[in-house]
Amino acid sequence: MKARDCIRKEYSAIFLFLAVAVLILVLRNMEVLEVRTWFYQFQHEVNSTIIVPRVSTVPDVHRGFCTFQPLSPNDALEERLLLDSIAWPGTSLLPAPLSLEKTSDPAHSSFTILPGRGGRTVGHPKKSGGDFLLARLHNPKFGAGVVGQVVDHLNGSYSAVFPLPWEGDAQVEVTLVHPSEAIPVLNRLNSEQPDRLYFKSLFRSGSISETSICNVCLRPTQPLCNYTDLRTGEPWFCYKPKKLSCDARINHAMGKYEQTFRANEDKLFQRGVNLKVFIRASGPNIVTMLPKMKEVKSSSMKSGPSGYYYQGVWRALGGTTVRQFDNSAIIQCLKGKGVYMYGDSTVRQFFEYLNAALPDLKEFDLHSPKKAGPYISLDYANNILLMSRFHGPPIRIVPVSTSELRYIANEIDGLVGGTNTVVIFGIWAHFGTFPMEIYIRRLQNIRRAVARLLDRAPGTVVIIRTGNAKVLSLSVSLTNSDWHSLQCNKVLRAVFKGLNVHLIDAWEMVFAHQLPHDLHPPSPIIKNMINVILSYVCPQKGD
Ligand SMILES: *[C@@H]1O[C@H](CO)[C@@H](O)[C@H](O)[C@H]1NC(C)=O
Ligand SMILES: *[C@@H]1O[C@H](CO)[C@@H](O)[C@H](O)[C@H]1NC(C)=O
Ligand SMILES: *[C@@H]1O[C@H](CO)[C@@H](O)[C@H](O)[C@H]1NC(C)=O
Repeated sequence: MKARDCIRKEYSAIFLFLAVAVLILVLRNMEVLEVRTWFYQFQHEVNSTIIVPRVSTVPDVHRGFCTFQPLSPNDALEERLLLDSIAWPGTSLLPAPLSLEKTSDPAHSSFTILPGRGGRTVGHPKKSGGDFLLARLHNPKFGAGVVGQVVDHLNGSYSAVFPLPWEGDAQVEVTLVHPSEAIPVLNRLNSEQPDRLYFKSLFRSGSISETSICNVCLRPTQPLCNYTDLRTGEPWFCYKPKKLSCDARINHAMGKYEQTFRANEDKLFQRGVNLKVFIRASGPNIVTMLPKMKEVKSSSMKSGPSGYYYQGVWRALGGTTVRQFDNSAIIQCLKGKGVYMYGDSTVRQFFEYLNAALPDLKEFDLHSPKKAGPYISLDYANNILLMSRFHGPPIRIVPVSTSELRYIANEIDGLVGGTNTVVIFGIWAHFGTFPMEIYIRRLQNIRRAVARLLDRAPGTVVIIRTGNAKVLSLSVSLTNSDWHSLQCNKVLRAVFKGLNVHLIDAWEMVFAHQLPHDLHPPSPIIKNMINVILSYVCPQKGD
């Protein structure tokens, strides 16, 4: 049977054919698929009272004891707009006290492929939005996967829209990462306890040594050493050692992690209950895509995904065509070039991958602490240099020398640049415990340095890796939730918009892949990312 057009105006019409016997939906390839999810609250009592949300009367509790350098009027305006653009629905409505029954219950929530009727479960339908959902279409047999765009209707129902880029079957998968009620908790912890994960430094002079606590934001309960970077204005503080001067700081390392919850808040982060759990389908969850009519374009979607997997290979939807590079093609591409990588351990993975893949690339032993770097690798015959180093504080790391604490912006200022220079950076995973302003300012500083680099050496290739989804537990959620990574990614895209830089959409490349989410994506995904990187460095003629 032919169904009516159920898709909102901006999406192209879809025609659905129901193969009743096997309950499989058949769609014409190239078009878009819409899936809707309905949310229900936990229902432990028959007549639960409807909660009246208490509107927060504190509009901006963000600053707390974090100190910020003044911004230029343009940067301050940008910061305001960025914060507005990532405002999460429902976060100003803080139910107090929290009762688990009134929170999203994934076990009694469902999704359905449109057209269809959802919401048939008994229970209390949610009336508000803000749940953090992920949706993807995948088929492990084909090594195929694509991420859907989730639209929050703010009434307890959500749509996910997908392009249909391959032929054959695909399974729809909807995941609740966090119920809406968990988001204000994450926000509150970052504004009220930005020091819940702390760092430490060793101070030493002669035979005297002392250890002290350090952070971006430090409660002014005792005298501070101020290590704010004079070039970028990036803040960093330690408590002043009792006997030694601030100049005696010799290293930096991650300390411990502690937070305090309000009643029941930890119940919002239960694995298998309401933390990264699948939502069941209320009907069929398989669609079959008919042979495609023409080249895949994501133009029928307002803001479609950046690519998809097919046969385990990442293909871009628009933009630079992703080519496949074997070892000799990698060397041809990188011949004569210096590749400078900055960021967290997820950028170090590119160094590790290339170093392992290319036998002619020899790592030079800098005697750096394992996992911390910096690292250098050289191929003399082909004049290839690879370099990788951590971004400056905050970094959660084994003890590193203070002389290796370098901000990406300052490092980029130290590069000559040019057509033989490739700069790759990724900075996200170590910012999950702070107010977003800290991250925004870091990116504004890096952007200034990138703009200066591209002005003095326009041929430089600059590539930015976004954050990705990971395995979430209670403690991981509270220090680097996928929700925070998603927010960081939105900010990152906005800050670098309009600059001649390229993105590795690690978010989609990890989520669309059949392998489980992982902070450090496994090798098949890194290989795809390397192909994306090299496609930017050595694009196909005509791209
Ligand atoms: C539920 O509430 C309604 C209306 O307030 C009342 O008539 C009914 O008896 C209640 N049911 C139970 C099981 O408490
Ligand atoms: C929620 O909003 C969407 C979009 O406006 C609408 O299609 C849907 O019927 C609404 N659902 C409920 C349960 O009100
Ligand atoms: C730290 O030093 C910076 C740069 O000199 C200064 O602007 C800032 O006000 C200082 N912060 C504190 C808390 O002393």
